[in-house]
Amino acid sequence: MEFSVVEVFLHHLFTCVTEVSAYVKHIELRFNSYIEVNEYEPYQVFLAAIAFTLAMVWLYNFLFLQELSLWERFKMATFKTLRSLPYVGPSIQREVDKALAGMAGSLFKLPAGMKYVNGLPQTGLSEDQVMRAIKGYHQLGHVDWKKGNVSGTVYSGQPELTQLCTKVYGEFAWSNPLHPDVFPGVRKMEAEVVAMTLKMFNAGVNACGTMTSGGTESILMACLAYRNMAKERGITLPEIVAPFSVHAAFDKAAHYFGMKIIHVNMDPKTWMVSLKSMRRAISSRTCMLVGSAPQFPHGIIDPIADIAALGKRYGIPVHVDACLGGFLLPFMKQAGFDLAPFDFSVDGVTSISCDTHKYGFAPKGSSVILYSDRKYRHSQYFVQPNWPGGVYATSTMAGSRAGAIVAACWATMMTIGEDGYVESTRKIVKAARYIAKELRKVEGIFVFGEPEVSVVAFGSTEFDIYRVSNTLTARGWNLNSLQFPSSIHLCCTLRHTMPGVTDRFITDVKKAVAEAMANPKAKATGQGAIYGMAQAVPDRTLISEIAWGYLDCVYDTKRKEDDGPVNGMHH
Ligand SMILES: *Cc1c(COP(=O)(O)O)cnc(C)c1O
Ligand SMILES: *[C@@H]1O[C@H](CO)[C@@H](O)[C@H](O)[C@H]1NC(C)=O
Repeated sequence: MEFSVVEVFLHHLFTCVTEVSAYVKHIELRFNSYIEVNEYEPYQVFLAAIAFTLAMVWLYNFLFLQELSLWERFKMATFKTLRSLPYVGPSIQREVDKALAGMAGSLFKLPAGMKYVNGLPQTGLSEDQVMRAIKGYHQLGHVDWKKGNVSGTVYSGQPELTQLCTKVYGEFAWSNPLHPDVFPGVRKMEAEVVAMTLKMFNAGVNACGTMTSGGTESILMACLAYRNMAKERGITLPEIVAPFSVHAAFDKAAHYFGMKIIHVNMDPKTWMVSLKSMRRAISSRTCMLVGSAPQFPHGIIDPIADIAALGKRYGIPVHVDACLGGFLLPFMKQAGFDLAPFDFSVDGVTSISCDTHKYGFAPKGSSVILYSDRKYRHSQYFVQPNWPGGVYATSTMAGSRAGAIVAACWATMMTIGEDGYVESTRKIVKAARYIAKELRKVEGIFVFGEPEVSVVAFGSTEFDIYRVSNTLTARGWNLNSLQFPSSIHLCCTLRHTMPGVTDRFITDVKKAVAEAMANPKAKATGQGAIYGMAQAVPDRTLISEIAWGYLDCVYDTKRKEDDGPVNGMHH
């Protein structure tokens, strides 16, 4: 007799099912007789059931309710084990140490003769001496941001604005918004910066906000507020659902505040977040949805109205990260560009972060977080009613803050005015769109999506784009290198609207691409090679370790070759 494969399979399946059900029956009988034989009391069975349930809850928590997913934890544990193995571990460590030593040897080198200050000067320097030293520090930089060679970084840099801000800073140099009774002027200015920004975003009557020290803090505050609200509803591990392209400040918030962040993939054509994936990522633990307007890597605006509609449907707050676009988007219509609604006029948008220190052109150290309703802002506040130093209440992370920064921000917004921002938006968006249009014509590279605002990102399927980045760096440009996928971007600021800058950039990109295309298979060297390799390392903790080394270098003043007496000046 011959059996077909299907018959054999069905036979096995049937035996399997009968065996399993027999086994279940068997356990049932065993369990009942076990309880009878041992004469367990009902309360004992009850307690055992509770213990079992607790164990299951623990298991569930271990498997799913962790900041990192099971898969991420598994990978980390595997790599950790690898690194503890003999031979493998030490050889990995040697490579890391080599990378760290290479970095320490090449980063932040001082010019010959310049030393680090490693202690207070015994007697204070005269003003003359201080100013001479300051000049030396100033001259350490060689990147020419004034001529538009740098992506982003300095958004205005107009000399008249510098003068105004330094004057205003002087007026309020000693002020501290922590003491509004002592500095009522600073309090008024801070409230007015928030009010002016609210108006830009079509906020309703219940809307409100606070000033913060920067985009990161604004984002941290929104995540904190939504986390606190979720915790109040009994959710132990609130989840942020955000696009993969979202700013790292959201990962920082998850890390600081004990939340989980779920990254949603993007549509590979438009580089906007995929709505379908976002809807699937929503769970009963989701405490906020995020969209960027625009996102940093590719300068693309997420479909804010659709994300807000999702939020409405599931009753989840929606944050719009307009840190970058905050002082461009509100003025785009007036500047003559089409734009989909992105602000509080969209039902469902509950908060917006907006950086005054980017396209608001204020000096670094200020940003605004806005809410559609006061209840959100209340969740952001911190109060310690029992402190012996008094009832301690602050609206943001910091205690004491620089009132002078508030004043400089206020003065900047007042001196530029709506017309000024419309004009800067017109110039900056025009420059970015011109660059995108011209780069699209260059054979060998492609532009990511349809950048609507100020950032233009490009990559290549023909050669390693980091080679172009290397060439441009050698020619005096300072661009942003991006990863996953490999690409580079230019973030246009007022510096790039000066005559000739965009054409100079396009010409240099064309030359660099032509060079790369002449030998498309060649490998990137130097900085570009490091970026390429870093993406390929499967154990991401190695990259973190090297990044720690980088941060250590930033604070390093004890290098052998630079060791010397105090003063930090040329002698
Ligand atoms: C710059 C930026 C931030 C964070 O801003 P910082 O001021 O650097 O803290 C957040 N989101 C986006 C899209 C940004 O471009
Ligand atoms: C700025 O970039 C241009 C290339 O377009 C270059 O000629 C110039 O030297 C750069 N400036 C500096 C200071 O690197």
